[in-house]
Amino acid sequence: MKKRYTYIFFLFGIFVLANAMQLLSSCNGNKAEGVAIDSLIAHADSVVSVDTSKMPGGKYGAAVKYGRELMLHTAYYIGPDGINGHYTGNKMNCTNCHRDAGARPYAFNLVRAFRDYPQYRAREGRILSLAERINNCVMRPNLGRPLPLDSKEMISIMAYLKFLSDSTQIDAKTKGLKNMLVELPDHAASPENGEKLYIEHCQRCHAANGEGKMRFDQVTYKYPPVWGLLAYRPGSSMHRVVKLAQWLKGNMPYDKTTPGKPFLTDAEALDIAAFVNDDKIHKRPAAKTTKEEDYPNHEEKAIDYDKGPFKDPFSEQQHKYGPYKPIIDYWEGKGITPAI
Ligand code: HEC
Ligand code: HEC
Repeated sequence: MKKRYTYIFFLFGIFVLANAMQLLSSCNGNKAEGVAIDSLIAHADSVVSVDTSKMPGGKYGAAVKYGRELMLHTAYYIGPDGINGHYTGNKMNCTNCHRDAGARPYAFNLVRAFRDYPQYRAREGRILSLAERINNCVMRPNLGRPLPLDSKEMISIMAYLKFLSDSTQIDAKTKGLKNMLVELPDHAASPENGEKLYIEHCQRCHAANGEGKMRFDQVTYKYPPVWGLLAYRPGSSMHRVVKLAQWLKGNMPYDKTTPGKPFLTDAEALDIAAFVNDDKIHKRPAAKTTKEEDYPNHEEKAIDYDKGPFKDPFSEQQHKYGPYKPIIDYWEGKGITPAI
């Protein structure tokens, strides 16, 4: 009798041990599939997360779903060969930057957008509605012409952003609503070092000439372009070095970064952003989209916006690549917190 119990305990022991080992190996060895585990941890840490399985019904629900589709498959619906209209001028999708259709943490998350507009925008020097802000992205990074304000497409994108806002619990401590911050060094960002890092970490997907790679059906990109005549234009926020570095830190390289767990160091992200956004090295589409001047009130320019005239004594070169701290100190000395 005693022997039999010992045997059962022995079997039980092996069972426990085997499970523990499996658990361990799936945590350690399985970097590529780490996303699910990481997002669970992230949730417990009150990082913003959206449950898109609970979509509303009826006509409003249909608009929400189409709005989400438009963000995920922008080129397919409203790109240069779009089936529902020709609005965007390149084949990028909103989700390429606002990842997971604006739901992903640290990726220009859009959960707050619906409640944050109308909003005063320094770049335009006036108050913008949410629809106007959406059209800014249609026109700038997506090189398009504005969606009519009463179009099914505009209303659906707004409905989707309302859904994101309504269905997500956030409070002052919720993380991931803004991108990760990068510490600004005392020296300027280096496009030369950025080029080396780009070759090492980015080129395998975005290609040597930055043009990315089309998907097999040519409808959109497998890897979107990061410079060239089909990439975002100067005047897009992505064209600012610090802004891009903050996004890169939370998002790229694509297969090595999970929300809140960067792969690149802050200095690397800044150098790569300086290289990608260096217009002396790379071509981009023309900057002009409207007759309005960007930042009509010159003292409101974001510190990494690279076109003068400036209301401070720093050069275009320094605004573009840094060092940024002296610029921040200058404005703080005047009692103003400058925008980054
Ligand atoms: C190349 C990258 C890129 C693409 C593509 C892009 N955006 Fe943006 N979008 C940005 C950046 C950068 C900002 C500014 C975010 C900031 O300043 O924090 C922004 C801001 C916004 C905002 C305002 C967010 C806020 O809270 O102020 C909305 C809304 C928006 N985008 C919607 C869209 C839509 C819809 C599309 C597709 C038609 C799109 N974007 C495509 C990069 C992009
Ligand atoms: C394994 C492939 C891969 C690697 C490596 C990679 N990316 Fe990406 N990148 C992508 C994909 C895919 C997207 C679109 C993301 C989405 O739709 O969710 C993207 C999006 C982007 C975007 C925003 C969209 C655009 O084209 O403007 C930028 C900028 C970018 N990557 C830069 C980089 C940089 C810089 C590196 C190196 C540090 C890098 N990527 C490494 C696959 C990759």
